[in-house]
Amino acid sequence: MHAPDGVLAARRVLDRYAGIFTRRAAAFAGQLRAEVPAGQSFNVMSKLGAFVVGSIMETAFGVDATASEVLDQLVRASEDAFFIVAYRVLHPWLLLDWLFRMSRLGRLSRHHEDVISKMTERVMEAKKAQLERRTEVAESGQQDNAENDEDDSVVREKYTFLDMALGDKAHALSDKEIIEEVRTLIAVQQTTASTLSFIMVMMALYPEVQESARAEVRELDAVQGLHPLERLKRLKYVERVIKETLRLFPITAIFARKLKKPLHLPDQKTIPAGVMVATSPYVVHRDPRHWPDPERFDPDRFLPDRCAGRHPYAYAPFSAGPRNCIGQRYAMLQMVAVVAAVLARVRVHPGEGCESRAALRVNADVFLTIEGGFNVRLEPLEGC
Ligand code: HEM
Repeated sequence: MHAPDGVLAARRVLDRYAGIFTRRAAAFAGQLRAEVPAGQSFNVMSKLGAFVVGSIMETAFGVDATASEVLDQLVRASEDAFFIVAYRVLHPWLLLDWLFRMSRLGRLSRHHEDVISKMTERVMEAKKAQLERRTEVAESGQQDNAENDEDDSVVREKYTFLDMALGDKAHALSDKEIIEEVRTLIAVQQTTASTLSFIMVMMALYPEVQESARAEVRELDAVQGLHPLERLKRLKYVERVIKETLRLFPITAIFARKLKKPLHLPDQKTIPAGVMVATSPYVVHRDPRHWPDPERFDPDRFLPDRCAGRHPYAYAPFSAGPRNCIGQRYAMLQMVAVVAAVLARVRVHPGEGCESRAALRVNADVFLTIEGGFNVRLEPLEGC
């Protein structure tokens, strides 16, 4: 029996991403080991922000931005974009566009818009040129040497998000729509960076969990010839560590929906249509009916037999339903690759202000963060 085309295409995309994530994660972890002085407390989020934005530039847009001087600016722009949204909601007079435009934050916002727009325009120009070249080559029946050139560091991967948007004439998006998509995709990468940062802090705080995860990584790394996707999928304990971290620290701690129709609650009360309702995975993930001893960090809560029978919405770090996260599998794959690469090269210890769970000052403006930074210390491991 053959798998349907859609399944095969999704598998091909995941295969390609697994390879990119594995390569990028190894380079990232190697760089951390080489650049961060042993034992020095540092905010790991500062490194992860640039890393995830670099990943989306490569996987979704085919642009190698690792060497780009605008990468840091892009990261700052996307971080600030979320802060600005939250600030406007908490200071509602700034929701008046004319007032916001005149404010200091309005000016900052315009500056960031410019940074992101310049990058997205660059991405689109490079892609359009590549597509035109491909069309010409296809029409002339020649081999496209430039595309096969490994040294072509600006545009190197086929079948990225932009290829689909620009290539499919029937469903082509307008330039404006593509720029919006590019901006969204860059901005949401901060969720992955923050989650990875929480994972690093949790591994530092629970050394026995960290050692079990490292043992799994080492065992698998000793197996020769594993395809990157197969390897990442087999890291089941690492995956449970990530899931348990997302249970305690679901980055989007609150999300809201406008009711299309009245909502009848079990206690006979009804919320009318048109009302905005908010739900919080941060609270649901701590409900002792679903999560006994909820504050305890226990990755084995996600063992298959312990998941059986759990309410499907008891765990929703990526939201649920028709507007849930489209990047869930992408994010999980990337996070497994990064955690595995880091564990293979360094031991992670708690840094300043992150010495215990009680010491963590968790802030929930837009995304969950730790006030004072996701501070850890690294101990380089021998033989890697
Ligand atoms: C650990 C990482 C991530 C977490 C925890 C996360 C979480 C979420 C949540 C909770 C939502 C729903 C928000 C709401 O309803 O208001 C969402 C939406 C979304 N996410 Fe993610 N996300 C992550 C990574 C990603 C990645 C890597 C991508 C893209 C590659 C992505 C793309 C999106 C998009 C485009 C939406 C909007 C979907 C829609 O409105 O239909 N996310 N994410």
